[in-house]
Amino acid sequence: MLKAFFVEWARLVTRALRPGGHVFIASNAYLSQTIFSSLVEGGLEFRGEIIRVVHTLRGGDRPKNAEKDFPDVSSLPRGCYEPWGLLRKPIPPGMKVSDCLRVFETGGLRRLPNGKPFNDVILSERTPRRERAIADHPSLKPQSFLRQLVYAALPLGEGIIADPFMGSGSTIAAAEAINVRAVGIELHANYYEMSRVVIPQLAGLKLKNDLSQQLPLPW
Ligand SMILES: C[S@@+](CC[C@H](N)C(=O)[O-])C[C@H]1O[C@@H](n2cnc3c(N)ncnc32)[C@H](O)[C@@H]1O
Repeated sequence: MLKAFFVEWARLVTRALRPGGHVFIASNAYLSQTIFSSLVEGGLEFRGEIIRVVHTLRGGDRPKNAEKDFPDVSSLPRGCYEPWGLLRKPIPPGMKVSDCLRVFETGGLRRLPNGKPFNDVILSERTPRRERAIADHPSLKPQSFLRQLVYAALPLGEGIIADPFMGSGSTIAAAEAINVRAVGIELHANYYEMSRVVIPQLAGLKLKNDLSQQLPLPW
């Protein structure tokens, strides 16, 4: 069921994307293998993962109902990252990335404003309280992270970010904050209505770290 959904979803996405256009998709350590392979089956090209380093609530527990018998065992590692799939609609045969950039304005990822490349490990944070106070959605992602993704997604800063599962609109807000065009779709009317209020408020937030630097990695 999950597999069939994502194979079909990838087929539909490749119809809407320009050749060379990127897809960023949030996942978790359990499901990522199934989801990413289904997206490839549906026609997208796997380009790696973005590792959002953040403490999740997953794993780390002792075996259920036997905690005292096995005090030194965890059934799963404690979750310290969120894997985001990075996929691309294939570049037409015979085209290089440079051709794709010239013709379709896609194919690569935008470097940071300071000229450094976009990293595939991003030190992140739980969604701050002030953002949760604006948007009451159970899976709200932090602006500090989303603004980095939407910046990287359009290599020449041209084009449109589409979030087909926009929830309260945090990705759309991130795009608006960095002057990138975006459209969102949301199934539930209450979240859609919420997004109309939330987007301008999240987009207007000033963050401590601007986009000129990703949070420094320890190497
Ligand atoms: C993971 S949440 C996105 C949260 C969002 N990043 C935010 O910050 O609020 C996924 C959203 O997709 C919506 N959704 C689920 N199925 C959908 C569909 N078929 N079409 C559009 N939206 C859908 C859900 O209602 C939910 O709000």
